[in-house]
Amino acid sequence: MSGPRRVAVLKGGRSMEREVSLRSGANVEAALRRLGHEVIPVDADPSLVRTLRAERPDVVFVAMHGKGGEDGTVQELLEILDIPYTGSGVQACARAMDKVMAKAVFANAGIATPPAFAFGESAFRELGAADALMEIETRLGLPLVVKPAKQGSALGITVAREPNDVPRALMTALSFDDHVLLERFVRGREIAVTVLGTDDPEALPAVEAVLSGDFYDFEARYTPGMTELVAPADLRPELADEVAQTALACYAALGCRGFGRVDMIVDADEQVWVLEINPIPGMTDTSLLPKAATAAGLSFDEVIERVLADASLGG
Ligand SMILES: Nc1ncnc2c1ncn2[C@@H]1O[C@H](COP(=O)(O)OP(=O)(O)O)[C@@H](O)[C@H]1O
Ligand SMILES: [Mg+2]
Repeated sequence: MSGPRRVAVLKGGRSMEREVSLRSGANVEAALRRLGHEVIPVDADPSLVRTLRAERPDVVFVAMHGKGGEDGTVQELLEILDIPYTGSGVQACARAMDKVMAKAVFANAGIATPPAFAFGESAFRELGAADALMEIETRLGLPLVVKPAKQGSALGITVAREPNDVPRALMTALSFDDHVLLERFVRGREIAVTVLGTDDPEALPAVEAVLSGDFYDFEARYTPGMTELVAPADLRPELADEVAQTALACYAALGCRGFGRVDMIVDADEQVWVLEINPIPGMTDTSLLPKAATAAGLSFDEVIERVLADASLGG
């Protein structure tokens, strides 16, 4: 503990996940105030740099999600301004936010992710990639999960059940990002592991989201009561250990700091498939991180204090 500090909480921004970030930010601010810190709420906008220069915080707590806040952009600005900030650095954020990039890093580290193909928008426009859809469907099988490479909160993701669904799913994903992934649909249990720490990261107990529909979409995430969250997830000890080790391996492979959350699916054969890592996990009332903290015997405030204590520059 380094005593009370002047903490700017960065939230909002222009991303699709603005509303989610405002809720995460409000919870972070409340926790920081309870912990005795001085809080400067900052809704990220074009005057961000000027605001931070004027306010001169000791440290920034980045509570942003999605483009701009979670992809290394805001982190780069904080590096330039020389203000320590929470969470992962520029490189780790940039690679984590890009699912195509992150999958490649995971594959190199021997971590299983669902087989997928990825394209930039120009491949469709300039190289007729749409004509390869039949091969993609044959190689990966249906259903296919079509998703934007850089997005969160399941925005722009469609499960395409038949060949006819794929083109529209692609258009949807491409309206969110200029790169898209077509990924094999893995049926199984939705498991997420929150990781805390930097030098000696710790995996909190896994949380299972018991879905009422096919996937953990935006509504299922942020409508209180719609999705049952089980924490700790009911996994046999060996499997609980495996998902924890997998999450730590993902975190290390990307060089994450402070905190993060790894989303996975565990199939009927107990194969663990990593979907993605979130460098700034949701901290809303219906988010997984508060549930994981409770299951670990930690209060939300303790988690926030630990993330704050790990704030740094560089890396
Ligand atoms: N390959 C897949 N197989 C089955 N469901 C998937 C797959 N990919 C994504 N999903 C579903 O979509 C949700 C969001 O996908 P994810 O890759 O975690 O992106 P986001 O960044 O939007 O959270 C997952 O929680 C899961 O319910
Ligand atoms: Mg996810």
